[in-house]
Amino acid sequence: MGLSDGTIRLRKPVVADLPALADAIRSSQTELAPFMPWAVDYDEAGTLGWIRAEHGDEDGFVIVDPDETIVGACGLNRFNTENDFANLGYWIRTSETGNGYATRATRLLAAHGFDHHELARVELLIAVDNAASRRVAERSGATFEGVLRRRLRLGNGHADAALYSIIPADL
Ligand SMILES: CC(C)(COP(=O)(O)OP(=O)(O)OC[C@H]1O[C@@H](n2cnc3c(N)ncnc32)[C@H](O)[C@@H]1OP(=O)(O)O)[C@@H](O)C(=O)NCCC(=O)NCCS
Repeated sequence: MGLSDGTIRLRKPVVADLPALADAIRSSQTELAPFMPWAVDYDEAGTLGWIRAEHGDEDGFVIVDPDETIVGACGLNRFNTENDFANLGYWIRTSETGNGYATRATRLLAAHGFDHHELARVELLIAVDNAASRRVAERSGATFEGVLRRRLRLGNGHADAALYSIIPADL
């Protein structure tokens, strides 16, 4: 089961994934920490909570490669049920970046948002200086809609965020 494009698959996380996820995060902490606040003081309890969906408003998935190895994670969160949109996020372990996995995951997850959650749009909020993630948004077919000032709390301050959206017609 899961969502697949023939190369990667998104599947729901299970508790047995904890060691692989922890290894992926620890080995990528330098690259994750600037953009994923939870990675700064990483502990496995947080990942276990994410696996168990204890964080509430998130439809999270692990991303597995053709060998079924976990290469990252992604999810839809911050569902706005009044206007039918949600936020889309992702990370890829550093040793597996550059393979197009985040772009594939974004397209699969957006399609899932439209089909399963009946969303009208998904949003990607990306720190303006996160060039790799902005490239993922562009390659995924997202449209750049502007810069939201001081929209993301990152590190000790607040970063301007580039807002991208994907709507069903984009896929
Ligand atoms: C951003 C991230 C998810 C990208 O994952 P990935 O699987 O390598 O992404 P893809 O392979 O699908 O695409 C990456 C694109 O960014 C480009 N890229 C990578 N580093 C770059 C950089 N420093 N500057 C500009 N482009 C860059 C790649 O060349 C590729 O584009 P191309 O195929 O046109 O050459 C990964 O680097 C990551 O997890 N970063 C830390 C966490 C993070 O920032 N998450 C997103 C928060 S909004």
